[in-house]
Amino acid sequence: PGPRPLEGKTVIVTSGPTREPIDPVRYISNASSGRQGTAIAEALASQGAIVKFVTGPAEYSKPKGCEIIPVETAVEMEAAVTAALPADAAIFTAAVADWRVAEPADAKLKKDGSGAAPELDFVANPDILASVSHLPAGERPNLVIGFAAETGNLETHARNKLARKGCDWLLANDVSPGTGVFGGADTRILFLDGTGTDDWGPQSKAAVAEKLADRIAKHFAGGN
Ligand code: C5P
Repeated sequence: PGPRPLEGKTVIVTSGPTREPIDPVRYISNASSGRQGTAIAEALASQGAIVKFVTGPAEYSKPKGCEIIPVETAVEMEAAVTAALPADAAIFTAAVADWRVAEPADAKLKKDGSGAAPELDFVANPDILASVSHLPAGERPNLVIGFAAETGNLETHARNKLARKGCDWLLANDVSPGTGVFGGADTRILFLDGTGTDDWGPQSKAAVAEKLADRIAKHFAGGN
Protein backbone atom coordinates (compact mmCIF):
# COMPACT_ATOMS: atom_id res chain seq x y z
CA PRO A 1 0.00 0.00 0.00
CA GLY A 2 1.17 3.51 -0.85
CA PRO A 3 0.96 6.68 1.24
CA ARG A 4 -2.49 7.61 2.55
CA PRO A 5 -2.64 11.43 2.28
CA LEU A 6 -6.46 11.44 2.38
CA GLU A 7 -6.69 9.54 5.68
CA GLY A 8 -9.59 10.93 7.71
CA LYS A 9 -11.14 12.88 4.81
CA THR A 10 -14.73 12.07 3.87
CA VAL A 11 -15.59 12.27 0.17
CA ILE A 12 -18.98 11.80 -1.48
CA VAL A 13 -18.90 10.50 -5.08
CA THR A 14 -22.03 10.28 -7.25
CA SER A 15 -21.92 7.93 -10.22
CA GLY A 16 -23.91 6.17 -12.90
CA PRO A 17 -27.22 7.15 -14.49
CA THR A 18 -30.48 7.84 -12.73
CA ARG A 19 -33.63 5.93 -13.63
CA GLU A 20 -36.90 7.86 -13.82
CA PRO A 21 -40.10 5.78 -13.79
CA ILE A 22 -42.88 6.09 -16.38
CA ASP A 23 -44.97 3.32 -14.86
CA PRO A 24 -44.12 0.33 -12.61
CA VAL A 25 -42.22 -1.47 -15.39
CA ARG A 26 -40.86 1.30 -17.62
CA TYR A 27 -38.33 4.08 -17.10
CA ILE A 28 -36.22 6.77 -18.77
CA SER A 29 -32.47 6.57 -18.26
CA ASN A 30 -29.15 6.97 -20.08
CA ALA A 31 -26.13 4.86 -21.02
CA SER A 32 -23.74 6.02 -18.26
CA SER A 33 -21.53 3.04 -17.33
CA GLY A 34 -20.34 4.31 -13.94
CA ARG A 35 -16.79 3.61 -15.05
CA GLN A 36 -15.27 7.03 -14.29
CA GLY A 37 -17.05 7.40 -10.93
CA THR A 38 -15.99 3.91 -9.84
CA ALA A 39 -12.36 4.60 -10.77
CA ILE A 40 -12.40 7.89 -8.84
CA ALA A 41 -13.94 6.28 -5.75
CA GLU A 42 -11.30 3.52 -5.75
CA ALA A 43 -8.43 5.99 -6.26
CA LEU A 44 -9.65 8.09 -3.30
CA ALA A 45 -10.15 5.03 -1.07
CA SER A 46 -6.66 3.77 -1.89
CA GLN A 47 -5.30 7.12 -0.65
CA GLY A 48 -7.11 6.62 2.65
CA ALA A 49 -10.34 8.61 2.13
CA ILE A 50 -13.68 7.51 3.59
CA VAL A 51 -15.71 7.31 0.37
CA LYS A 52 -19.50 7.40 0.27
CA PHE A 53 -20.43 6.22 -3.22
CA VAL A 54 -23.96 7.16 -4.27
CA THR A 55 -24.74 5.24 -7.43
CA GLY A 56 -27.58 4.79 -9.87
CA PRO A 57 -28.05 1.40 -11.56
CA ALA A 58 -24.81 1.08 -13.56
CA GLU A 59 -22.58 -1.60 -15.02
CA TYR A 60 -19.71 -0.38 -12.78
CA SER A 61 -21.15 0.30 -9.33
CA LYS A 62 -19.08 -1.54 -6.72
CA PRO A 63 -15.82 0.31 -6.04
CA LYS A 64 -13.60 -1.55 -3.58
CA GLY A 65 -13.18 -0.11 -0.11
CA CYS A 66 -16.13 2.31 -0.34
CA GLU A 67 -19.51 2.62 1.35
CA ILE A 68 -21.98 1.93 -1.48
CA ILE A 69 -25.35 3.72 -1.40
CA PRO A 70 -27.55 2.52 -4.29
CA VAL A 71 -30.34 4.79 -5.57
CA GLU A 72 -32.58 4.88 -8.63
CA THR A 73 -34.04 8.34 -9.22
CA ALA A 74 -32.50 11.83 -9.11
CA VAL A 75 -34.72 12.71 -6.15
CA GLU A 76 -33.38 9.65 -4.29
CA MET A 77 -29.83 10.58 -5.26
CA GLU A 78 -30.29 14.08 -3.84
CA ALA A 79 -31.67 12.66 -0.57
CA ALA A 80 -28.76 10.20 -0.31
CA VAL A 81 -26.18 12.96 -0.91
CA THR A 82 -27.85 15.19 1.69
CA ALA A 83 -27.84 12.31 4.19
CA ALA A 84 -24.15 11.65 3.47
CA LEU A 85 -23.15 15.23 4.39
CA PRO A 86 -21.05 16.65 6.00
CA ALA A 87 -18.08 15.86 3.78
CA ASP A 88 -14.69 17.37 3.03
CA ALA A 89 -15.18 16.96 -0.71
CA ALA A 90 -17.98 15.97 -3.10
CA ILE A 91 -17.48 14.77 -6.67
CA PHE A 92 -20.46 14.64 -9.01
CA THR A 93 -19.72 12.10 -11.71
CA ALA A 94 -23.31 10.89 -12.11
CA ALA A 95 -25.25 11.42 -15.34
CA VAL A 96 -28.40 12.67 -13.63
CA ALA A 97 -31.57 12.81 -15.71
CA ASP A 98 -32.51 16.46 -16.21
CA TRP A 99 -36.24 15.69 -16.17
CA ARG A 100 -38.56 13.14 -14.64
CA VAL A 101 -42.11 12.13 -15.52
CA ALA A 102 -44.36 14.41 -13.48
CA GLU A 103 -46.80 11.71 -12.41
CA PRO A 104 -45.61 8.14 -13.04
CA ALA A 105 -48.59 5.81 -13.52
CA ASP A 106 -49.47 3.43 -10.65
CA ALA A 107 -50.30 0.65 -13.09
CA LYS A 108 -48.68 -0.36 -16.39
CA LEU A 109 -49.77 1.92 -19.25
CA LYS A 110 -51.96 -0.04 -21.70
CA LYS A 111 -52.64 0.43 -25.38
CA ASP A 112 -56.21 1.68 -25.61
CA GLY A 113 -56.94 0.21 -29.06
CA SER A 114 -57.17 3.58 -30.82
CA GLY A 115 -53.48 3.61 -31.77
CA ALA A 116 -52.99 6.84 -29.80
CA ALA A 117 -49.59 7.21 -28.10
CA PRO A 118 -49.48 8.29 -24.44
CA GLU A 119 -48.37 11.84 -23.64
CA LEU A 120 -45.91 12.31 -20.82
CA ASP A 121 -45.52 15.51 -18.82
CA PHE A 122 -42.05 16.20 -17.44
CA VAL A 123 -40.76 18.28 -14.54
CA ALA A 124 -37.17 19.35 -13.87
CA ASN A 125 -35.09 17.26 -11.49
CA PRO A 126 -33.12 18.90 -8.67
CA ASP A 127 -29.60 19.93 -9.70
CA ILE A 128 -27.64 18.18 -6.96
CA LEU A 129 -24.25 19.65 -7.87
CA ALA A 130 -25.60 23.22 -7.94
CA SER A 131 -27.45 22.87 -4.65
CA VAL A 132 -24.44 21.40 -2.81
CA SER A 133 -22.16 24.08 -4.33
CA HIS A 134 -24.48 26.78 -3.01
CA LEU A 135 -24.80 25.45 0.54
CA PRO A 136 -23.82 27.99 3.20
CA ALA A 137 -20.22 27.96 4.42
CA GLY A 138 -19.95 25.42 7.20
CA GLU A 139 -22.30 23.02 5.44
CA ARG A 140 -20.64 23.18 2.03
CA PRO A 141 -17.86 20.67 1.42
CA ASN A 142 -14.51 22.43 1.16
CA LEU A 143 -14.08 21.11 -2.38
CA VAL A 144 -17.00 20.61 -4.81
CA ILE A 145 -16.16 19.05 -8.17
CA GLY A 146 -18.44 18.69 -11.21
CA PHE A 147 -18.20 16.89 -14.52
CA ALA A 148 -19.44 17.99 -17.92
CA ALA A 149 -20.15 15.77 -20.89
CA GLU A 150 -20.47 17.87 -24.06
CA THR A 151 -20.69 17.28 -27.78
CA GLY A 152 -19.04 20.48 -29.01
CA ASN A 153 -17.69 23.88 -27.87
CA LEU A 154 -16.19 22.03 -24.92
CA GLU A 155 -14.25 24.83 -23.26
CA THR A 156 -16.96 27.49 -23.64
CA HIS A 157 -19.70 25.24 -22.28
CA ALA A 158 -17.43 24.05 -19.47
CA ARG A 159 -16.41 27.56 -18.41
CA ASN A 160 -20.09 28.62 -18.30
CA LYS A 161 -21.00 25.47 -16.40
CA LEU A 162 -18.31 26.03 -13.76
CA ALA A 163 -19.75 29.49 -13.08
CA ARG A 164 -23.41 28.47 -13.21
CA LYS A 165 -23.02 25.44 -10.97
CA GLY A 166 -20.81 27.25 -8.47
CA CYS A 167 -18.36 24.35 -8.09
CA ASP A 168 -14.62 24.72 -7.49
CA TRP A 169 -13.34 22.43 -10.23
CA LEU A 170 -14.94 21.09 -13.39
CA LEU A 171 -13.74 18.14 -15.47
CA ALA A 172 -15.12 18.34 -19.00
CA ASN A 173 -15.00 15.71 -21.70
CA ASP A 174 -16.24 15.47 -25.26
CA VAL A 175 -18.66 12.53 -25.53
CA SER A 176 -19.53 12.96 -29.22
CA PRO A 177 -20.34 9.72 -31.05
CA GLY A 178 -17.07 8.34 -32.40
CA THR A 179 -14.97 9.43 -29.42
CA GLY A 180 -15.85 6.21 -27.55
CA VAL A 181 -15.80 8.14 -24.27
CA PHE A 182 -19.32 7.19 -23.17
CA GLY A 183 -18.96 3.71 -21.67
CA GLY A 184 -15.36 3.36 -22.87
CA ALA A 185 -12.12 2.92 -20.92
CA ASP A 186 -10.49 6.12 -22.18
CA THR A 187 -11.27 9.82 -22.19
CA ARG A 188 -9.70 13.25 -22.54
CA ILE A 189 -10.29 15.74 -19.77
CA LEU A 190 -10.22 19.53 -19.84
CA PHE A 191 -9.68 20.57 -16.22
CA LEU A 192 -11.07 23.98 -15.22
CA ASP A 193 -10.80 25.91 -11.99
CA GLY A 194 -11.10 29.58 -11.06
CA THR A 195 -7.63 30.31 -12.43
CA GLY A 196 -7.47 28.53 -15.78
CA THR A 197 -7.93 25.54 -18.07
CA ASP A 198 -5.62 22.54 -18.36
CA ASP A 199 -5.82 19.89 -21.12
CA TRP A 200 -4.96 16.56 -19.50
CA GLY A 201 -4.72 14.87 -22.91
CA PRO A 202 -6.02 11.43 -23.95
CA GLN A 203 -5.69 8.85 -21.19
CA SER A 204 -7.57 6.08 -19.39
CA LYS A 205 -10.38 6.86 -16.95
CA ALA A 206 -8.25 5.07 -14.32
CA ALA A 207 -5.39 7.52 -14.99
CA VAL A 208 -7.83 10.47 -14.74
CA ALA A 209 -8.98 9.10 -11.38
CA GLU A 210 -5.39 8.87 -10.06
CA LYS A 211 -4.56 12.37 -11.26
CA LEU A 212 -7.70 13.80 -9.68
CA ALA A 213 -7.09 12.00 -6.37
CA ASP A 214 -3.51 13.34 -6.31
CA ARG A 215 -4.77 16.84 -6.98
CA ILE A 216 -7.34 16.57 -4.18
CA ALA A 217 -4.65 15.31 -1.79
CA LYS A 218 -2.44 18.26 -2.75
CA HIS A 219 -5.36 20.67 -2.16
CA PHE A 220 -5.87 19.37 1.38
CA ALA A 221 -2.12 19.18 2.07
CA GLY A 222 -2.04 22.90 1.23
CA GLY A 223 -3.96 23.51 4.44
CA ASN A 224 -7.45 23.85 2.95
O1 C5P B 1 -25.91 20.26 -16.31
P1 C5P B 1 -25.12 19.05 -16.59
O2 C5P B 1 -25.91 17.77 -16.45
O3 C5P B 1 -24.31 19.06 -17.85
O4 C5P B 1 -24.04 19.09 -15.41
C1 C5P B 1 -23.19 18.05 -15.20
C2 C5P B 1 -22.73 18.06 -13.75
O5 C5P B 1 -23.79 18.36 -12.84
C3 C5P B 1 -22.24 16.69 -13.36
O6 C5P B 1 -21.24 16.85 -12.37
C4 C5P B 1 -23.50 16.06 -12.80
O7 C5P B 1 -23.23 14.99 -11.93
C5 C5P B 1 -24.15 17.23 -12.08
N1 C5P B 1 -25.63 17.18 -12.03
C6 C5P B 1 -26.28 16.98 -10.82
N2 C5P B 1 -27.66 16.99 -10.77
C7 C5P B 1 -28.37 17.19 -11.90
C8 C5P B 1 -27.72 17.39 -13.14
C9 C5P B 1 -26.35 17.36 -13.16
O8 C5P B 1 -25.63 16.78 -9.79
N3 C5P B 1 -29.70 17.20 -11.83
